Amino acid sequence: MAPTPLTSARARTLTFASTRRTMVSVAMNLQAAPAKTAVKEACSCSGRQTYHDDMAKTLYTEADISKRVVELGRQIAQDYEGKAPLVLGVLKGSFMFFSDLVRAVEPCPRGLTMDFIRASSYGSGTESSGDVKLKTDLKREKVEGRHVLLVEDIVDTALTITTVIRHLQECGAASVAVATLLDKHERRRLPYRPEYVGFVCPNEFVVGYGLDFDEEYRSLPYIGVLKPECYAHLGLDGAEPDGSGDSGDE
Ligand code: XMP
Ligand code: MG
Repeated sequence: MAPTPLTSARARTLTFASTRRTMVSVAMNLQAAPAKTAVKEACSCSGRQTYHDDMAKTLYTEADISKRVVELGRQIAQDYEGKAPLVLGVLKGSFMFFSDLVRAVEPCPRGLTMDFIRASSYGSGTESSGDVKLKTDLKREKVEGRHVLLVEDIVDTALTITTVIRHLQECGAASVAVATLLDKHERRRLPYRPEYVGFVCPNEFVVGYGLDFDEEYRSLPYIGVLKPECYAHLGLDGAEPDGSGDSGDE
């Protein structure tokens, strides 16, 4: 299959590293259909029928995740007793973790409420630009004086989460803490440590349980690493997904 043209003013970037440490960056068109269509065609061409068939390996099974989420929920319930926390999900990647986590916060503190915020950043080269855009209809008065617990799918460079934290502090939150399912701390660009971490994640591009590759794979109930064939059409044969750079993601 011919490689898909991947140029756009509004592109998101994916960073990959080969086993020989060769870094290659690829811009993926967010608006036009070609990149997405190419993923689907590439997968069906080689006979893979389901998302499961696209996984090179599973990093965290459904059972691993649910066990860890229960542990985190109990810890959070203890820490937030009497604090009426505002639990704020960072969309879209956190939606599955968020819904499991809030149900695991037992015994549930009175006054716990929930809301969501969307965060996205667009890269100019191999890395996220750090220009993180936030979208929310959360009013300042809903945040002021509240103990906010942010729920994230993955903290990678930490550019996104630190922007969200700053915004909430500016809105007058009494405290801001972060529960992230995955912590890919090897790729940090800012010194930042989340308060609650599900798993310390290896430096690989992961999908499933809310995490996507070009909006696909979010529905998988486990977290895995994609087979190289699934991104070979991007001209990255021989390379392995290595880091986020999913800088246009939410
Ligand atoms: P930063 O670098 O700002 O990134 O901490 C946070 C956001 O980038 C996305 N991200 C990933 N998405 N697989 C994904 O599907 C990954 O391995 C990955 N690493 C980072 C994610 O949206 C996260 O919120
Ligand atoms: Mg996210």
